[in-house]
Amino acid sequence: MNRSASAVINLDLPGRVIPRHVYGHFAEHLGRCVYDGIFVGADSPIPNVRGMRTDVVAALRAIKIPNLRWPGGCFADEYHWRDGIGPQSERVRMVNRLWGDVVEDNSFGTHEFMDLCEMLGAEPYITGNLGSGTVREMADWVEYLTRADGSPMSALRGANGHPEPWPVRFWGLGNEPWGCGGNMPAQYYADQARQYATFLRDHGDNKIYKIAAGPSDDDYQWTQTLMQSLSCLGKCSGSANHFQAISLHYYTFSGEWEDKGHALDFDEADYYLTLKHAQRIGELIRRHSAVMDSYNPCGTVGLVVDEWGTWWEVEPGENPAFLYQQNTMRDALVASVHFDIFHTAERVVMANIAQTVNVLQAMVLTDPATGAMVLTPTYHVFAMNVGHHDAASLGVAWKTPLPTQTVAGTPIPLLSASASAKRDTALVSLSNLDAENAATVSLELRGREVTGYRATVLTAPSLQGHNTPEHPQAVAPTALDAVAKTRTGLSVELPPHSYATVELSLGG
Ligand code: AHR
Repeated sequence: MNRSASAVINLDLPGRVIPRHVYGHFAEHLGRCVYDGIFVGADSPIPNVRGMRTDVVAALRAIKIPNLRWPGGCFADEYHWRDGIGPQSERVRMVNRLWGDVVEDNSFGTHEFMDLCEMLGAEPYITGNLGSGTVREMADWVEYLTRADGSPMSALRGANGHPEPWPVRFWGLGNEPWGCGGNMPAQYYADQARQYATFLRDHGDNKIYKIAAGPSDDDYQWTQTLMQSLSCLGKCSGSANHFQAISLHYYTFSGEWEDKGHALDFDEADYYLTLKHAQRIGELIRRHSAVMDSYNPCGTVGLVVDEWGTWWEVEPGENPAFLYQQNTMRDALVASVHFDIFHTAERVVMANIAQTVNVLQAMVLTDPATGAMVLTPTYHVFAMNVGHHDAASLGVAWKTPLPTQTVAGTPIPLLSASASAKRDTALVSLSNLDAENAATVSLELRGREVTGYRATVLTAPSLQGHNTPEHPQAVAPTALDAVAKTRTGLSVELPPHSYATVELSLGG
């Protein structure tokens, strides 16, 4: 069966600019994400520059990773930054209690992270330790990173080989304080966040954008408590507040928290449940935004979805605390659905998929035995979407009812789309979520002349299609030829369970 639907895109009616920062990433000291996945140490036989894997850095540069969140996650609230500076061989060791109870040698610390960000061309997003650290410790870290004038902390940085300060904008005030970050009630955390934020100073021209640790899932009460504690309610600029944004965490799985489902071993029912759960991010953003609107109607306080993505049971034989999972066409579609929502969600200023390498919904998987690197289907969605970074979003108005699938008693749409324009190009994203049927989408393109087009598709013979060191290209983008000109625009035929982009050249 071939399903069909029609949509109008007004190429001359730009909406909000899609912040490139919604394409952000997250690398925690967890399993083989930072160590092994990114940082192998300068003496490793794996090709590296100052310890960073050259292949992984090149892959991440290619998707123009705009920011990188570090060092956690839950790890952030156990991390003491002074343990990770100075000569690597002399650094204090610690136990990474949360993620496998393994000994952490702190060889990847502040200088290595900032070096990595420079290699990637990404802005750092540092999560400070509010759970088990002190106000002074966090304030000193900001001074260490950003102050120029020979103050105690900047002198210490200079003694450690980096006299120049680094620009650091994004700063998290702890992580998940309602859980691993301290098991705090909402009001207690809100008070703590105000106190910590007070002492995080802007040094010189460096302006810190403070992100308070917001809710998980549908905890609207947490959002309300945080928003009530802003210093200026109603009309005032974001910078005048104690914090400029709050975070939201939302993970997608097919089952329950205790039994989330498997990355590779799933059936069609699990697939549709997963997509239903992925689409829920739209409702969560709308409702948290509505709470934020009532305290900050001018919209100056941002929403930062700084942990999102799929979370499956770990692969058989892997350390259960290391959260290593494979990544299929299903994960790719979870990502494309999230981006369609992020593109038009006014409050969402930034988002960070969890996590960059070897953990949860990763871009890259590395093989510990051979050192080989594999790009995941999710990576390819990020690559296909680079054109959306900082482009003006365009509305996609469906003219016909969308095909649906009933999942747990509720119909879910089987097509998802978004579009953007930048100067003389536009990019249209189309996801066909139907597991078995192709779909033909007629695009009525109004407002500007379309002088050319190029389409790309990501799909696999099965929903479980994935890449391995033996078959690294099993799921990779290819040219999509099934695109035809129509009287009013283009007709695009999408294979079952596929993600496609159509790049338009625009005249006039
Ligand atoms: O991403 C893995 C963990 O999930 C993070 O450390 C934590 O913030 C969340 O619960």
